[in-house]
Amino acid sequence: MLFKQQALLRQKLFVLGSLAIGSVLYLVARVGTLDRLQPICPIESRYLSPEPEQIPLRNLQFKRGLLHELRKGNATKEQIRLHNLVQQLPRAIIIGVRKGGTRALLEMLNLHPAVVKASQEIHFFDNDRNYARGIDWYRGKMPFSFPHQITIEKSPAYFITEEVPERIFKMNSSIKLLIIVREPTTRAVSDYTQVLEGKERKNKTYHKFENLAIDTSTCEVNTKYKAVRTSIYTKHLERWLKYFPVEQFHIVDGDRLITDPLPELQLVEHFLNLPPRISQYNLYFNATRGFYCLRFNIVFNKCLAGSKGRIHPEVDPSVVIKLQKFFHPFNQKFYQITGRTFDWP
Ligand code: A3P
Repeated sequence: MLFKQQALLRQKLFVLGSLAIGSVLYLVARVGTLDRLQPICPIESRYLSPEPEQIPLRNLQFKRGLLHELRKGNATKEQIRLHNLVQQLPRAIIIGVRKGGTRALLEMLNLHPAVVKASQEIHFFDNDRNYARGIDWYRGKMPFSFPHQITIEKSPAYFITEEVPERIFKMNSSIKLLIIVREPTTRAVSDYTQVLEGKERKNKTYHKFENLAIDTSTCEVNTKYKAVRTSIYTKHLERWLKYFPVEQFHIVDGDRLITDPLPELQLVEHFLNLPPRISQYNLYFNATRGFYCLRFNIVFNKCLAGSKGRIHPEVDPSVVIKLQKFFHPFNQKFYQITGRTFDWP
């Protein structure tokens, strides 16, 4: 009897022991796997060209950290080599429109783990001297990124500069082009406000908006005034359409990007074939600034500089109406071409 009980106990101990050893072996194997998934070693072989949809977010978050170090200048050449970092030509460009919210759009897209922004406006295609420096100069101005990330730059002058569409086409005829627009009269006033502020900083006087926007001799809208011309979106777009099909453009509603940015960003993610990653968590309204600000993670958040979101001077309502009437037919054409309609007057 005693012998039988002892045998049973031995059997139980054996089973429990096996289970314990099994669990330990499983954990060792699992931790090993997890460890290998942790991005602590060179990653070239792990990231061989998945489509953007397949980018593992956790890994990209790690990449962001490294890229941040790079931007601060802390990453070594060895890290660049080990992590297969490259300077890539942009796969998408925010070509305009000046004062449409181009900086906010770029910064917000940069929240996406698969996007890396060129911090400065490069002005490669609109500036003849830069353009003459060649495509390798342009590439050298791009930030370091991982091969599966996409680089985006913004230079709003591209939209209105004659030579730019052909030059971009020569670089990459299938590039994706983003245009962020605001209600044209508001945009013109914003444009004016920026110039006015520059003059005031230099203690210079400047004309009133009304005197620039309206030709005082004819009382008609002054189409020679650059802030007015830039807001005739359809005229500029038509030049671009000589090179790129309309499907290669995505129009962003700059007014909605101010009041409710997430849906606009989700449309851009879709246009760029990126997995939806930007969420409400990444955007919070800052009442002091009066704008949405960006939250990258629990410790890092930022608002745009004070030069974004200036107070506009009051404009004579009759001039506003005149401008709105002037822009109306151009706006209709713009809606027709792009397939995106706005409730502009
Ligand atoms: P205003 O200064 O007229 O308000 P750009 O970057 O193309 O120069 O555009 C500047 C505009 O971006 C600003 O115009 C501002 O309204 C708009 N904007 C959109 N989202 C913003 C944000 N989250 N923070 C600050 N400005 C933002």
